[in-house]
Amino acid sequence: MARPDSRSAEVDEFLATDASSGRVALAARVALSHGGAAGECPLYLEALDRALEEEPPPFDTATYAEIYLNASASWQWMAVSLITNAEREGDGAKRLWSLSACCDDEGAQRLLKRHAVDESRHALLYLALLDLTFADHVDPEFRLELNELSPKYSPKQEPAPVEGSPYAKNPSIDDFLQMNIAEIRTAIHHIMQRPAMARYFTPANRRRIGSIQDALLRDELNHVSYTAVLIERLAERMGREELSALFRRRFRDFNQITLDELGEAAFDCSVACCARHPTCRSRAPSASERPLELVQIA
Ligand SMILES: [Fe+2]
Ligand SMILES: [Fe+2]
Repeated sequence: MARPDSRSAEVDEFLATDASSGRVALAARVALSHGGAAGECPLYLEALDRALEEEPPPFDTATYAEIYLNASASWQWMAVSLITNAEREGDGAKRLWSLSACCDDEGAQRLLKRHAVDESRHALLYLALLDLTFADHVDPEFRLELNELSPKYSPKQEPAPVEGSPYAKNPSIDDFLQMNIAEIRTAIHHIMQRPAMARYFTPANRRRIGSIQDALLRDELNHVSYTAVLIERLAERMGREELSALFRRRFRDFNQITLDELGEAAFDCSVACCARHPTCRSRAPSASERPLELVQIA
């Protein structure tokens, strides 16, 4: 079957799998392959595979997908989930904007800026999904306020650190590892969101929803790819074992957050949710706390 114009090859390849697990490694490999970086990241892939073996992610299981699908049968849950996603994307955009502004490496700085612009746009795309599916249920005044969830960054703007942000710093390999895991998890959430959103398709909105979903997933796979390439580059300065240990530790942290969220039937935590978790993204870390803080940017 011909692929819709808006859908890229990596999206098709990722969607083609019916695996209920093994999607983390698959997402990384598909993303690298279509990002033109196949075979370029042996250290990253080895460390990823080792981490997955020792800390298998709960978000890569059939049970997790089933819980998501069941929760999404409620339109209220689905609508709140779209708003939460918009909030998270906008929040992530601001973190990336600060990291980009303070990044020492010119190439990485450009990539982080593009990533921030992407996430800023994603916040608005999730709200577009909300409009396409639940417009009749959202108070117009509240809906207008939701537009503020996106910082609306554009490529023409010059990144500047967001005042008071703990992300106003030169990013480390640890930051890129956490971003990479978060991006992979978001890509997996996109796969789960497709059948969930299909419940709310109508002949009038089906095509537009599909093209927004394709665009979001394509971007997330690009984010997986570029962060993997940066990890590989920075990993050359550290030992294999050190990289594996750090990757494993970050998976363990993300896995715990995922399990905590599952207890609340939340997928991809909101800013309020993160504030309750000592290892989560919105906690402003002091220098001594830094190793525990997670960069959940998706
Ligand atoms: Fe992303
Ligand atoms: Fe995103």
